[in-house]
Amino acid sequence: MKAYFDHGATTPIDPEVLKAMTPFLKQRFGNAASLHKLGREASEAVENSREAIAKFIGAKPEEIVFTSGGTESNNFAIKGIAFAKKKGHLIVSKIEHDCVLNSARWLEKQGFEVTYLSVDDEGFVSPEELRKAIQDDTFLVSVMHANNEIGTIQPLKEISKVCREKGVLLHSDACQSLTKVSVNIDDLGVDLMTINSHKIYGPKGVGALYIRKGVKIDPYFSGGGHENGKRSGTLNVPGIIGFGKSVQINHKVGHVKKLRNIFMKGVEKRISDVKLNGPRGDKRLANNANYSFKYIEGEGLLFRLDSHGIAVSTASACASNTLEPSHVLTSIGLPHEIAHGAIRFTFGKDNTLQEVEYVLDKLEKEVKELRKMSPYKRGWK
Ligand SMILES: Cc1ncc(COP(=O)(O)O)c(C=O)c1O
Repeated sequence: MKAYFDHGATTPIDPEVLKAMTPFLKQRFGNAASLHKLGREASEAVENSREAIAKFIGAKPEEIVFTSGGTESNNFAIKGIAFAKKKGHLIVSKIEHDCVLNSARWLEKQGFEVTYLSVDDEGFVSPEELRKAIQDDTFLVSVMHANNEIGTIQPLKEISKVCREKGVLLHSDACQSLTKVSVNIDDLGVDLMTINSHKIYGPKGVGALYIRKGVKIDPYFSGGGHENGKRSGTLNVPGIIGFGKSVQINHKVGHVKKLRNIFMKGVEKRISDVKLNGPRGDKRLANNANYSFKYIEGEGLLFRLDSHGIAVSTASACASNTLEPSHVLTSIGLPHEIAHGAIRFTFGKDNTLQEVEYVLDKLEKEVKELRKMSPYKRGWK
């Protein structure tokens, strides 16, 4: 049996999405910037996708800029706003994705001042702490909508109120929350928002940045002035068509949540010495469960599950090739040995109850076996 529980890393392409993309990979291959019929057809299809995505997040089509994905959108948002401001202070939370944190670190080297805002033991940013961190020269706050490792959904509305009061722009990385909870830009009160396609059954290598009308941002790429001068480069037409379709398919969030809850109950009933990382209830993404299995090391467990055809992850997919414990888990206060024992399970619309039962059986067995061998369990620290 095979069971994929790593939808937070990426998702398979939905058949409807693939069907919508296929003509643009074959006979409708035109460059959306070309003036002839093939080009005009491509451009028209891109604009339909832009409209669908804009509608989905409550934006205007002209506020959507297509990019190569979440990493580029986050770089563009943070560096583009900073370049437009020239100097000053920005605030990012300590549990942002590396592409946000490393953009902020890079800006520090260019002379900008950065505050890395702490989170509580469930991963929440406090709007009051944020208020205290805002300075006279703060121009941007970047707080992700939902965390990719522990599923914490931030109180963006309250965070936005603070930013509005202080006249500071708010950017949010919504790569993990898109289609799981509402990401209406006006309800959330964001000025910029990052989204991508490959977490929502669309193709990899495509995403978008929502930029509220009137926000001044410098382009990140120099080139021919595509996307209204904001993002040069030939548009990834099939990718954009797939992305546009992927917001329109049924994401079956109720089903995903039900399976995730059955899994959580099973883990907590059948396996001792486990710790749920991140919050419970509605403030946690419906598809995410992240557990530390005490006395064992996550990577070892991951490979044992892999040998049964079960795909899960330690930390985030992009960071899991390092030996450092996850910055998210250490930021919520986990000691290193507990952080190292963490596994993220992220559920998807095509998972089944049988798969959940299968993973629970294998997990119980492998945790038991690894613990038998664990030096920690034998009192070695
Ligand atoms: C929260 C978050 N932001 C950004 C990214 C990066 O997106 P992409 O893979 O499209 O560059 C990811 C994907 O791992 C993510 O989970």
